[in-house]
Amino acid sequence: MSLDPSRPDIDVSVAHSARVYDYWLGGKDNFPADRALGEAMIEVIPTLPAMARANRAFLGRAVHYLTAEAGVRQFLDIGTGIPTAGNVHEVAQKVAPDCRILYVDHDPLVLTHARALMTSTPEGRTEFILGDLREPEAILEHPALAKTLDLSQPVGLIMVAILMYFTDAEQPQRWVSTLLDALPSGSYLAITHPSADFDRAAFDAAAAAAGQAGITLASRSKVDIEGSLFAGLDVVDPGVVPVLGWRPDGEPPADPNAAYYWAGIARKP
Ligand SMILES: C[S@@+](CC[C@H](N)C(=O)[O-])C[C@H]1O[C@@H](n2cnc3c(N)ncnc32)[C@H](O)[C@@H]1O
Repeated sequence: MSLDPSRPDIDVSVAHSARVYDYWLGGKDNFPADRALGEAMIEVIPTLPAMARANRAFLGRAVHYLTAEAGVRQFLDIGTGIPTAGNVHEVAQKVAPDCRILYVDHDPLVLTHARALMTSTPEGRTEFILGDLREPEAILEHPALAKTLDLSQPVGLIMVAILMYFTDAEQPQRWVSTLLDALPSGSYLAITHPSADFDRAAFDAAAAAAGQAGITLASRSKVDIEGSLFAGLDVVDPGVVPVLGWRPDGEPPADPNAAYYWAGIARKP
């Protein structure tokens, strides 16, 4: 294990999902192992950076929708990623400065950058915790959660580009359910998920490259998302659709299937 001497908790010798994604988005917070995996995956899917941007753009549209149209004022963002353009609090607090956001990520590098860069409006609040989606109870019991979110009021639960790191055997929908069970009626769940539905051979090749670097990349279908992750929720228009086609700003995309992610938002009744 090769460590950054200034950060003994960060191993830069192996690829990390947040840093690979940062590389695709044109960020600077990545290391050779991250770039090597990022490039290996670009070899099989050359448009991956554009797909990452499409995913990120959905995050912005989703948070804008939830704040401006659904009236949500607090967010629980699991799998925050390294700060880049259009962070959740920036989009939300632009609509309503009193929005409160709890950011959760399991990568210490993400949290270091987030704490340094993501400052709340004076009216609102942002908190950052090191937490693991696989331990949803620990997230819910973390003191920062009660300090940031009022669980008697609706919450926007954001799970954008995170659930693909878990196989079906791990049953990630159980963790999603645990989190949703703690949120009141009128809360929302926003999801994007990459999928082999768009191009099975390309997805499998990219997943194989990620697997060699120790990162799981599981596909889920539209049916998996609707029937499992969104089970018991009311999916808002336009449903679970290709990420580029979810309430696009301006003109509809020429080819909505050009980014291999499903996207959707659902409301807890
Ligand atoms: C592809 S990035 C997505 C970032 C952001 N949500 C977005 O869509 O722009 C995935 C993020 O999930 C985080 N992550 C991966 N596994 C996690 C886990 N078990 N618990 C919490 N965060 C995790 C990674 O560290 C990374 O920051």
